[in-house]
Amino acid sequence: MRASRIRRLSTELANQIAAGEVVERPASIVKELVENALDAGATRIAVTVELGGKRLVRVEDDGEGMTPDDAVLALERHATSKIRRVEDLAAISTLGFRGEALPSIASVSHLLLRTRTQGASRGTEIRVSGGVVASTREVGAPEGTTLEVTDLFYNVPARRKFLKSDGAETTQVSRLVTQLALGHPDVGFTLTSGPRRLLQCPPAASLADRLFQLYKDRSDLVEVGKSAAGVQVTGFVAALAGPGQGPVRGPQNIFVNGRAVKDRTIAHAIVHAYSTATIKERSPEVHLFLEVPPDRVDVNVHPTKAEVRFLEPSLVHEVVRRALSEALGQGPAPEITLDVVAGGGAAQQPGSSGPAPATAMGAPGGGDRWQPLAETPRGGAPVVGAGYEQPLRDLVREVRPAAVEAVPVAVDRPLLPLGQFRDTFIIAIDDDGIAIIDQHVAHERVLFEQVMERLTTGSLESQRLLTPMIIELPPAERQALAAHGPALERLGFEVEEFGGDSVRIAAMPALVGLAACEAAVRALAQDLDGLDQGSAIDETLRRIAATTACHAAVKANDRLTPEKMVYILDELRRTAHSSVCPHGRPVIVRLSRREIEKRFERI
Ligand SMILES: Nc1ncnc2c1ncn2[C@@H]1O[C@H](COP(=O)(O)OP(=O)(O)O)[C@@H](O)[C@H]1O
Ligand SMILES: [Mg+2]
Repeated sequence: MRASRIRRLSTELANQIAAGEVVERPASIVKELVENALDAGATRIAVTVELGGKRLVRVEDDGEGMTPDDAVLALERHATSKIRRVEDLAAISTLGFRGEALPSIASVSHLLLRTRTQGASRGTEIRVSGGVVASTREVGAPEGTTLEVTDLFYNVPARRKFLKSDGAETTQVSRLVTQLALGHPDVGFTLTSGPRRLLQCPPAASLADRLFQLYKDRSDLVEVGKSAAGVQVTGFVAALAGPGQGPVRGPQNIFVNGRAVKDRTIAHAIVHAYSTATIKERSPEVHLFLEVPPDRVDVNVHPTKAEVRFLEPSLVHEVVRRALSEALGQGPAPEITLDVVAGGGAAQQPGSSGPAPATAMGAPGGGDRWQPLAETPRGGAPVVGAGYEQPLRDLVREVRPAAVEAVPVAVDRPLLPLGQFRDTFIIAIDDDGIAIIDQHVAHERVLFEQVMERLTTGSLESQRLLTPMIIELPPAERQALAAHGPALERLGFEVEEFGGDSVRIAAMPALVGLAACEAAVRALAQDLDGLDQGSAIDETLRRIAATTACHAAVKANDRLTPEKMVYILDELRRTAHSSVCPHGRPVIVRLSRREIEKRFERI
């Protein structure tokens, strides 16, 4: 008979194995300890690390503390105050619940726990080494809890070897504390590394204040706020028009019920929202907070609780996508101010060097051609014939009844076009002032969103050319077109090698006019040639869509009929992101009624 080979693992070894999942590096310890402090209702949390946390991680809180008995229990495996019954698992409202962190950490370090409950006369101090309790005694201690973890992995050299340099570990800790601080604005945080204070955030009244403490002034972020179907989304995300003509790149902090998570559903919704708005999304900075009823999200998916599972992922996806879309569409149109010299001469910029944006509205001198809408040479129904005393809203309703029922978006008041300036800008008015719209970028924005919208449901309408078009292109560009055949086809292009230096275009998207076809294909070839190898298909489609929209749009110097102007403004109004083009250029600038009245000394 063979001797039995199966043996029950010692508690210490079992804890070390669990530690393999929970404790990867100093930052994981900081995460577990800070989450415990938050669960204990702390209002101030101080984190200290030395040598990137390898020598020391200390977390001090002013939370509820532990009684002597609880302090002993807290170090045992599967001991927790946060759940009791299996039903509790279905609606978890605390950050912790597994009862694993303290025993796991204690099994791979030297741990000191000092704690005192609110109002108790004495505190408790427990020392543990490699998972074995070394001493327990009564001590004087501040109210709250301090945990000190020293010599991480001193007894597991294999794990110690995987730690990065002190600097790299400090960076991880600092990122993590920043994220936790962002997730809990009402709690004060400090982070100290050796002699350096890396972070200091007193308790803040709002998320906006906390963002300011952490990242200073962020006018390149827009606020998100939406609540639908029991899901609430708040936060701040990169605006479409960042400093580099596109949303700023940066960290993506996602919180579900106060817990920082990585979640593919949410990540996808973010990409989706940005991809219908801009071609420069890549990795936009977002700080998003979801509140979901605890019984509709499962947090018990992953040992480090970094992932969650939603009961209704597509609902969450939709609410997040809409929340972002609405927020991104809300960027206000930039305002311009007038500088008028009494007597009507050319505008002078008092003491300014270089022309201010206002000069675009400077005195319309000799060559500048205004086209009053009613007298447009190409005819068409005069739009303003009814006179201005009629409310503008009614006027526009008269021209295009559907205009008024559009969904609320950035440009949510109907704009009445008066005419074109230099055949390039549409001049329009509404009750709030005068708007100048770049006709090309406005139309481009409209078409881009239409194209992206249709792509999500299938492919774009294509039109076959009666005589295929033959275009000569450099080899690299021919290659680029060939390599992206399927993507081009989804947008309605049919392009094939024609031998020699040529490609043959047999079909193109219906929305691109024949006249613009060759230019569009040349631009696409260059664009796709410049695209990073291995770009995601989404990215490729977005690029093609942007180039297609650009070439299908009316150009600068195109004379527009009144109907076309009304159409563009009308569509722009339905467009979610009407104030910037997909490349981040402004679509519209406004001269407010207030500014005009001020200049004419009417207020
Ligand atoms: N900073 C703290 N303040 C008060 N109680 C704490 C603190 N840290 C841990 N505890 C107590 O110790 C228990 C075990 O902690 P832990 O091992 O992290 O498991 P969990 O957080 O999953 O319950 C907690 O349930 C809590 O009751
Ligand atoms: Mg915990």
